Amino acid sequence: MAARAQNFICQNCGAAYARWAGKCEACGEWNTLVEEGGEGPRRASRKGRLVVVESLKGHAHEAPRLGSGITEFDRVTGGGLVRGSVLLLGGDPGIGKSTLLLEVAAAFARDRHRAVYISGEGAVAQVRLRAERLGLSETTVEVAAETSVEDIGATLSHGATPRLLVIDSIQTMWTQIVEAAPGTVTQVRGSAGELIRFAKRSGAAIILVGHVTKDGQIAGPRVVEHMVDAVLSFEGEGSQQFRILRAIKNRFGPTDEIGVFEMTGSGLREVTNPSALFLSERDLGSAGTAVFAGIEGTRPLLVEIQALVAPTTLGTPRRAVVGWDPNRLSMVLAVLEAHCGVRLSGHDVYLNVAGGLRIQEPAADVAAAAALVSSLAHAPLPADAVYFGEVSLSGAVRPVPQTAARLREAQKLGFARAIVPEAARGEAPEGFALSPIGTLADLVADIARAGVPPLRRAGRQDA
Ligand code: TYD
Ligand code: MG
Repeated sequence: MAARAQNFICQNCGAAYARWAGKCEACGEWNTLVEEGGEGPRRASRKGRLVVVESLKGHAHEAPRLGSGITEFDRVTGGGLVRGSVLLLGGDPGIGKSTLLLEVAAAFARDRHRAVYISGEGAVAQVRLRAERLGLSETTVEVAAETSVEDIGATLSHGATPRLLVIDSIQTMWTQIVEAAPGTVTQVRGSAGELIRFAKRSGAAIILVGHVTKDGQIAGPRVVEHMVDAVLSFEGEGSQQFRILRAIKNRFGPTDEIGVFEMTGSGLREVTNPSALFLSERDLGSAGTAVFAGIEGTRPLLVEIQALVAPTTLGTPRRAVVGWDPNRLSMVLAVLEAHCGVRLSGHDVYLNVAGGLRIQEPAADVAAAAALVSSLAHAPLPADAVYFGEVSLSGAVRPVPQTAARLREAQKLGFARAIVPEAARGEAPEGFALSPIGTLADLVADIARAGVPPLRRAGRQDA
């Protein structure tokens, strides 16, 4: 008996069902099932063809890649674009994806590689206007406004294979091989599949632009994420000029590198010293801020962590965090309560990582705790100090990797001391002071000593 066609596709996660339902069982979203055309008639079945199986032994070649010359972009891709690879670039609308990719395409064209930019969103005139604004009007990037994958493939099979093909965006593309309407999950998946085949066949590197929905997932194209070789995300706070390019998945490189850009009136500018940028607007002398000496990928990065701890009238106090893991905040708060005598249950707690950066390292625990306690005690932290270290549930401060690199970066930017895990003792560069702490309670005691009013009285005396 033939299985019923599964034509109802969840627009959120891509799960397929034979009949409509109000809720997608796979991702739990409501009202996301849409009936889409099937994936076209199945070709008549044929006998399998023999493929060559090889031994794992033998020569492995480093994937051939080509750098754009835009250092911050090349770092995140792992040294440039691999021939025949497909990369998905996600980000909020307006964050600068089109701008970045036009600049990347222009960089390839400058090196005499064929670069083609397909705009599915606006006319060629719009792309040209943008190029003018970016000072790229002399570039040899080829531009077309097109949304049909077949037409794009046919056009590009003439002349030299493009070294880089930008598709802006994948949500606007459609292919004849599936019947579904443009913008649906089936179309996005079908179009991406065709483009990936084109990349593998021709050797062109393709960058697909994908729009992100409010919850941070690449809309529809979430189903594309596992089809492509690399997924990059372009992030930033709308109000701020910093833009951070981050690899979420990369078959050909690391995923912990970030690239930092600044959006200017004439395009994106590379930021080669991000620490200086993230610290440029420091609020010296106020309580509740601590400088974290972090590592992003291979690069040390200093960033300010801001905390606000304020008495609350709510039964359940607020805990809000931007740029850090809420679970780690909860853990640090619990350790402060349980092991350091810091009572926060009567306080709202807000934590923010300055500059729109998102920190993932556990090494930020100590800096976050320092900012929190500083805010609670109204005790500004020393302006020339940086903080790092991981906090364990027992309240111990644990060592973190790359101490030397963190300290060197801090010294380079004019800091004179660091509050570090005990294990880092003895790693200080010349002329740099270290205050090793064994437990979080040591840190709290140090900050409280400088605080007004005394920390003990800052907590609400309930119960
Ligand atoms: P864009 O690249 O169109 O974003 P996306 O493709 O991710 O939707 O960038 C749009 C924003 O960037 C827009 O708000 C204007 C701003 N911008 C600049 O500030 N300077 C520039 O040189 C350009 C081209 C855009
Ligand atoms: Mg765009």
